[in-house]
Amino acid sequence: MTTKTPRIAHLGIAVRDLDAAVAFYRDVLGMPAGARETVGDQGVEVAFVHAGEPEIELLHPTRPDSPVGRFLDRRGEGLHHVCLEVTDIRAELARLSALGVPLVDREPRIGAGGHLVAFLHPKGARGVLIELEQKRSE
Ligand code: CO
Repeated sequence: MTTKTPRIAHLGIAVRDLDAAVAFYRDVLGMPAGARETVGDQGVEVAFVHAGEPEIELLHPTRPDSPVGRFLDRRGEGLHHVCLEVTDIRAELARLSALGVPLVDREPRIGAGGHLVAFLHPKGARGVLIELEQKRSE
């Protein structure tokens, strides 16, 4: 077990039309929209919408062969991942790896917001893709 209860930082939702998705969350559901950002190496453009905690991260592929593009092809729009904030992502990856939890990323990389992120494989997490995030400031 981790020493601290993990906090859900955001829920990632894969969408085919980012403008329409932001408009729905902002104008229909009333959640203020935050900044947009393209994470080039992942081929994804993200937009956060705020509803207290956790946030919602809308994910739109910038190329069809990107992970989110393949997800949309296979599964369609919907919940893509659950992001847990951790204080020491490298220690957490080492701990999970030692437990035999399958990892997508053995090393953290830079994700949205410049935070360090790494993904656990859904096959080890009851079919849900889990993202670990260590805030940039820590
Ligand atoms: Co995310």
